[in-house]
Amino acid sequence: MFQAPRGTTDILPEDQPYWDNVMAAVRHIGSQFGYSRIDTPIFEDTQLFTRGIGGATDIVEKETYSFKDRGGDSLTLRPEGTAPVCRAYMEHGMHTLPQPVKLYYICQNFRYERPQSGRYRAFSQFGVEIFGESDPYADAEAIEISWRFLRELGLRDLSITLNSIGDDECRPLYVSALIKYYTQQSSELCTDCARRLVTNPLRLLDCKIDTCQPIISEAPRSIDYLCNDCEEHWQDLLDHLNRIDLTYEIDNSLVRGLDYYTRTVFEITPPVKGRTNVIAGGGRYDKLLEQLGGPSTPGVGFAVGLERVVEHMKRLKVTFSGDKSKLTLVAHLGPRGKNEAMVMASLIRKSGGTAVMGPSRGLRSQLRYASSINADYAVIIGDDEIDKGKFTLRQLGESTQQELSSEEIIRSVC
Ligand code: HAM
Repeated sequence: MFQAPRGTTDILPEDQPYWDNVMAAVRHIGSQFGYSRIDTPIFEDTQLFTRGIGGATDIVEKETYSFKDRGGDSLTLRPEGTAPVCRAYMEHGMHTLPQPVKLYYICQNFRYERPQSGRYRAFSQFGVEIFGESDPYADAEAIEISWRFLRELGLRDLSITLNSIGDDECRPLYVSALIKYYTQQSSELCTDCARRLVTNPLRLLDCKIDTCQPIISEAPRSIDYLCNDCEEHWQDLLDHLNRIDLTYEIDNSLVRGLDYYTRTVFEITPPVKGRTNVIAGGGRYDKLLEQLGGPSTPGVGFAVGLERVVEHMKRLKVTFSGDKSKLTLVAHLGPRGKNEAMVMASLIRKSGGTAVMGPSRGLRSQLRYASSINADYAVIIGDDEIDKGKFTLRQLGESTQQELSSEEIIRSVC
């Protein structure tokens, strides 16, 4: 027997209502904030990710699904949406449009991670990217969209954490201070941190190993090294968030797992923190487009992990005020009944209702099937009913039934 590949999930019928609600919220929030949808291919030139995300990140070092195609080109399954959306922005000349350009996407991503609850090798994201706006109101807007989206889905126990990691001007000073501090602690570091100290010092702050936590809590803070422009941006962002009543915590060790960020970084987490619990993450990336060979263009955005959203909705037992249309099973007896049932099911659907044909079995079995699919009504059509021009309509939840003409049935069930 085959099984789904490790780290992948099937979305079974019982989970589809969650996903329908998630998709509806994506579309609603996207249009409410005036964003346009974009879709990019599932694979891209491998270089887009090595240059975009950073060669020394976990994603590029050990998590990409890369392969050579039959023509010898190196391609990579999309591990995240930002670099591809930047590529599309440049390729389609969106930098020549009036700025800012505001885009959103829903995409499946692929990362060869160690699977566990909340961490998959194939997972979906709702993401937003704002191009061509360096003002911190755009950072606040990105945070607000992610927050509103999660609130709309009933996730009410989340918190926003925030940090600024500076820019090309001030970050080198900060990184030198970090290296100096960590070099003094080098005998205490875990093996990954000893490596990070050489390859990617900022990521030292992201270590989850217990023994490294006291070192992280005493480490120099990036917000103490911000240059004037970054400091002003940071303070303005906090003011904007206060003005729109978004509560946040400043987390001095928040650095994020991708190398393209400048200034603002943020995450949204449920009360139990941990790497596989982060529901949304994002930040500003003012150098990324240039790094990818495009014109100098500021950018800011985020992505929400949708499997984690659905898992959290289930944990919180979120219910939706579903305007689920009523479902009618059209049960039949004999060949004439079956033909007439096909016509009745079709008429119900043409009038906007939802109808399912009874399976080709006895009446009892058809009615059992009606309850198994949670039908609201069953219409019963046999020779007698056809001759009389009156059909039985059962309201399944209430166990009542009426004899009605086909027009009356359609009016009742639609
Ligand atoms: P990220 O932090 O790598 O950022 O991913 C964003 C969210 O995707 C995470 O917070 C998490 O909810 C979900 N996620 C990531 N990896 C997995 C996984 N293996 N299994 C399940 N869910 C996962 C980015 O992807 C950036 N592109 C976000 C961004 C957009 N920054 C600026 N613009």
